[in-house]
Amino acid sequence: MAQTQEVMVPDIGDFENVDVVDVLVKPGDVVTAEQPLITLESEKAALDVPAPGPGTVREVLVKVGDKVSQGTAIVRMEAAGAATAEAAPQPWAPENRNAAAAPAERGDAEPRTEQADARPAAVDQASTLSASVDAPRPSAGSDKGVPPPGPSAAPATGHPEPDRAQAFLPHASPSVRKFARELGVDLTRVPGSGPKQRILREDVAAFVRQQLTETAQRGAIPPIPAVDFSKFGPIERQPLSRVQRRSGPNLHRSWLNIPHVTQFDEADITDLEDFRKANQARADKRGVKLTLLAFLLDACAHALREFPAVNASLDPDGEHLILKRYIHIGVAVDTPDGLMVPVVRDVDRKGVFELATEVAELAEQTRTRKLKPDRLQGASFSISSLGGIGGTAFTPIINAPEVAILGVSRARMQPVYHEETGGFVPRLMLPLSFSYDHRVIDGAEAARFTRFLSEMLSDIRRLLL
Ligand code: COA
Repeated sequence: MAQTQEVMVPDIGDFENVDVVDVLVKPGDVVTAEQPLITLESEKAALDVPAPGPGTVREVLVKVGDKVSQGTAIVRMEAAGAATAEAAPQPWAPENRNAAAAPAERGDAEPRTEQADARPAAVDQASTLSASVDAPRPSAGSDKGVPPPGPSAAPATGHPEPDRAQAFLPHASPSVRKFARELGVDLTRVPGSGPKQRILREDVAAFVRQQLTETAQRGAIPPIPAVDFSKFGPIERQPLSRVQRRSGPNLHRSWLNIPHVTQFDEADITDLEDFRKANQARADKRGVKLTLLAFLLDACAHALREFPAVNASLDPDGEHLILKRYIHIGVAVDTPDGLMVPVVRDVDRKGVFELATEVAELAEQTRTRKLKPDRLQGASFSISSLGGIGGTAFTPIINAPEVAILGVSRARMQPVYHEETGGFVPRLMLPLSFSYDHRVIDGAEAARFTRFLSEMLSDIRRLLL
């Protein structure tokens, strides 16, 4: 005949009326030896009372909030194979109580208190804390049944600073700690929903679910659904150019990796344009078209020297900035195949005539596909000029691992208020769009950079010095 036995609260030291904070089983549950049945918590420690042997829970005799002491019956269990109990004595049967207590008496039962369980996670704390946990004591047993073996653990007694030590530890029962360890969860990151912010098993599970969801959301950008456009009208399917196929993933990577911000500004280039036109005759003699872009390169070289962080890259370790002591500027060139960015090297060491010549040559070679591959490498900053086409402003994408790019739109004559005369004067204003990596450059630095650039372009004497 099936034999049921009561499992009782073991020796928990001097503590009495300890709170039941978790009931981990219900009637009908099949449990294994040492499986936690309930969790108790005193002021200083939490401990699980485990099943003394395998069996089936028939009745739970306590509920959360009850107060228990040593000897309180908590669960009525039927031992596995109880029909043959006589042939195979159960360790928790009354007549075997000494056997049941034996592991504790031998001292090899693991006290599964909150403190003891904290050891793998916090060795330093645990070495202090272990002193506060009494060794498990053998149970005295009782007529009704015997306390289970092993779990007996006395709360902190005699520890010099138990409260301070306790404050380091997340509030969770040993079984919850074990569960968290199995899943690799750092309990200090899990908010507890139990009494006194105690972390429950459900809290750990909810934390893991949340982490998985967040990781999935971060890792996978929802794809744009495929649409059969022919349902709406005639279509033609064209392959992307080779350049587009190559540059597309790079642009996408930069866009996803870099927190872009774009600072807009404008420069008064009225005097610069006069100077450029006045010197075109000289340039013609050299067979060069003196373009605005040559002056922009020159002004950027000055600004990059003044703001070294803009002429830098983030170290992949995420903790250093690599400042480049060279100024190589990529120039975006529109080609029939798509966008390409040849590089003008050592811009700071070249004059505007030389820069104008080089840009023209590079643009020509790029468009006719005669550019050597090494001329597309090594830029420390980039300029994208759409001024020849039009537009008022745009947000260029940074060419990673660079940290900034200057977009230039079409200069327009605009009425600018002149403080001295109190009237408006026509000035040629050049729109600047400066996109920067906000991890490296902050907003104030970006505004200073574009202001500096604007002043250089507005003051031709300063630029040519
Ligand atoms: N404002 C007003 N006019 C401008 C100007 C500006 N910001 N920039 C150029 N112009 C004028 C030039 O003076 C020139 O006029 P002109 O023929 O009367 O002398 C005309 O526009 C054409 O200039 P452009 O051929 O564009 O020469 P450039 O030296 O300014 O630029 C390249 C050279 C290679 C940058 C340019 O041809 C190019 O490919 N730009 C596209 C870059 C691009 O696609 N960027 C997008 C990246 S997202």
